[in-house]
Amino acid sequence: MTQSHSIAVYPGTFDPITNGHLDVLTRAMGIFHRVIVTIAPNIRKNPLFSTDERMQFIRDALPEYASRLEFAVFEGLLVEFCRSRKASVIVRGLRALADFEYEFQFAHMNRRLAPGVDTVFFMTDERNHYVSSSLVKEVASLGGDVTGLVPAAVVTALAAKFKIKPSITLAVTAKAAKLKAAGIDVISFGAGEPDFDTPAHIKAAVHAALDQPGIGKYTDVTGILPLRKAIAAELSAVHHVAIEPDQVLVSTGAKHSLYNLFMALLDPGDEVLIPAPYWVSYPDMVMLAGGRPVILETRAENDFAVTPAQVREACTGRTRGIVLNNPSNPTGAVYARKQVEALAEVAVEKDLLVFSDDIYRQLVYGDAAYHSIAAIGPDIARRTILVDGASKTYAMTGWRIGYTAAPLPLIKAMTKIQGQSTSNPSHISQVAALAALTGPQDCVAEMRRAFNERRLTMVKLLRAIPGVACREPKGAFYAFPDVSAYLGKKSPEGHILDDDVKLCDWLVEVGKVAVVPGSGFGAPGFVRLSYACSMQDIEVGVGRLGKALAQLS
Ligand SMILES: Cc1ncc(COP(=O)(O)O)c(C=O)c1O
Repeated sequence: MTQSHSIAVYPGTFDPITNGHLDVLTRAMGIFHRVIVTIAPNIRKNPLFSTDERMQFIRDALPEYASRLEFAVFEGLLVEFCRSRKASVIVRGLRALADFEYEFQFAHMNRRLAPGVDTVFFMTDERNHYVSSSLVKEVASLGGDVTGLVPAAVVTALAAKFKIKPSITLAVTAKAAKLKAAGIDVISFGAGEPDFDTPAHIKAAVHAALDQPGIGKYTDVTGILPLRKAIAAELSAVHHVAIEPDQVLVSTGAKHSLYNLFMALLDPGDEVLIPAPYWVSYPDMVMLAGGRPVILETRAENDFAVTPAQVREACTGRTRGIVLNNPSNPTGAVYARKQVEALAEVAVEKDLLVFSDDIYRQLVYGDAAYHSIAAIGPDIARRTILVDGASKTYAMTGWRIGYTAAPLPLIKAMTKIQGQSTSNPSHISQVAALAALTGPQDCVAEMRRAFNERRLTMVKLLRAIPGVACREPKGAFYAFPDVSAYLGKKSPEGHILDDDVKLCDWLVEVGKVAVVPGSGFGAPGFVRLSYACSMQDIEVGVGRLGKALAQLS
């Protein structure tokens, strides 16, 4: 092989790379001095993986060739690309007979266009003769095992792509709403939103702002400065840390904040520890960002708190951090100070970040208190990312304002993602959030008082249902009873309700009461009921639940 043959181009879509591709590439690396893998973005075919992800899979699979393997994204005429890179060989893989006709034409056409560029075909190992990216994707999408056909990282990534589920809470709420719209009297405990109206002074501030010039324009991607200042001041006071307005990113709800966070932080295969029961979206968001959720089961007897020993045991070289949702959706558990301290200690010891989702921090009842993990000390404060928002505290779910406070480099990375996706959150909603944060706070105390009364009533009524065990939720606005005693029973219509999803389906359709199955939160056998609804709904709805369950045999 002369020096002029030493640069080869291996073009393809590689969505994703298969072991067949890797076989061809390895053989090519044995002959050519340098191989440029040229990835077609393939936008029209709606690719499953981004070009960056596709390149990374190849890099990770062949680390031994790192210095001789190059990558390019290219969609034009291949021979032009070869010329521009002084490559004189095109590498192709020949798998099956069916490939031949096209490859034959492709090679001849390229020779006509560029006589100096030769096409060299490699045949894969016979185990990979039939393997194609599209077949692998199809099999994975149907739940088939593709181990051995693609690198292990691709197996994980495919599983993640095809496992993203729609939010179960939104699904239950939508089902109840549909039945209601059809005139059926359903009581829904599904929604995670206060039934109160957004407080009047917040609406008044919005009314006033609507007459101001400049309202309704794009704002800074990170949010308007007065709002970021107010958030920085509030979070600094609550968490006993000094947060600058530049360290705050305002997003379209706390959900968006968390999404930006995982997208900015996680590399493919990075692990995030998520104590279960968890808020439905955490695992899926981690997977959307290419990460791997690692679920840590907790026990009702321990008030659903994750233990430091569990965290220690679950840590690997890929663990980036742990989600701490305090108070918790769905359990209503509030971490005691000692538990927060113990978690802080293990997070520092294991060099973990803490993703502190404090969206319910102002909704804490009785003698429970919210304890900030960031406030424990500077070591843990440095590694804590604060996620908070206006939705739950101020009955502002639909305004969609959430925020993150984090070290500046992370905020900058998240801002880039937000800037290329949604830009600033709605301007008028930012005005509303500013009024919420800086205005009178008695509305929060009033809502808290009402939630507390409803909480006590709901728990009392749930505990009165035979076979239902309900721990006292100390925060947020959910009760999370154990209904496993009813699983496997038969409905009067003759159906065996052997899991909580079937039970909840039957409850809404026959019992006319909507509750969310615990399996959506990683806790099969439990159901979640929101008490952010009227006292009358609680009394009638839990009554319906009891009556429906009593019909199961
Ligand atoms: C624990 C938790 N985090 C975040 C969110 C998202 O809140 P937002 O409505 O601000 O996006 C919710 C909403 O249900 C939640 O329960």
